[in-house]
Amino acid sequence: TLSPIDTAKFVAAKKAVGYVEDGMKVGLGTGSTAAWMVRCLGELVREEGLDIVGVPTSSRTAELARQQGIKVISLDEAKWLDLTIDGADEFDPELNLIKGGGGALLQEKIVATASDQMIVISDVSKQVDMLGAFPLPVEVIPFGWQTTKALVEETLVSMDVLGQQSTVRMNGDAAYVTDEGNHIIDLHLQRIGNARQLALVLNQIPGVVENGLFIDICDKVIIGHGDGRVTTKD
Ligand code: A5P
Repeated sequence: TLSPIDTAKFVAAKKAVGYVEDGMKVGLGTGSTAAWMVRCLGELVREEGLDIVGVPTSSRTAELARQQGIKVISLDEAKWLDLTIDGADEFDPELNLIKGGGGALLQEKIVATASDQMIVISDVSKQVDMLGAFPLPVEVIPFGWQTTKALVEETLVSMDVLGQQSTVRMNGDAAYVTDEGNHIIDLHLQRIGNARQLALVLNQIPGVVENGLFIDICDKVIIGHGDGRVTTKD
């Protein structure tokens, strides 16, 4: 039997794979909720002969998808996707998101943007009135990353949005390295009043590759509840 949190993730994932149709090219998200979705999709492929190809958003998801018997291709092979299903760290009433808690924001944003539709699967704990309590991940290239971090902080102070210091994400004693060979700076902002503007400003800073704000990308959120109920927002 599943815990309430795993029940919530599972029922959201199960509902989301109902949107996948034969012949679709599907973006496969990253994280524990997305992993449930990949397993549900694998079951449909193996047991019901669902004919799809998947484009993973991380090396972790690629491995899981292959194990599940899902045909994996690159985004360049697919060129454009019908649907991406992914998790999120926060979503607001406009369905804007913070993503990247799992470190895969760059590939996730590229894949979701290259899709006709993005469906987010979530438990109810990630629903917020205003984004920002979850630390906002910013992916930076390794060259001069400490200078880039300082520049990001300076920019945030000038915009009056920085709550505390920003922190570099660690993996043991070393800076965490993403699938693309970059580092992640987590911004502890608490409340992001103008997410649209912040997303644009961050990406103007040299050394910043991408940030975890997904603005106008998500079309639908499927919310799982611990008692097995599912609700949707679009
Ligand atoms: C991965 O980089 C993130 O964007 C994930 O989508 C996010 O962290 C959600 O993960 P969980 O489903 O494990 O909460």
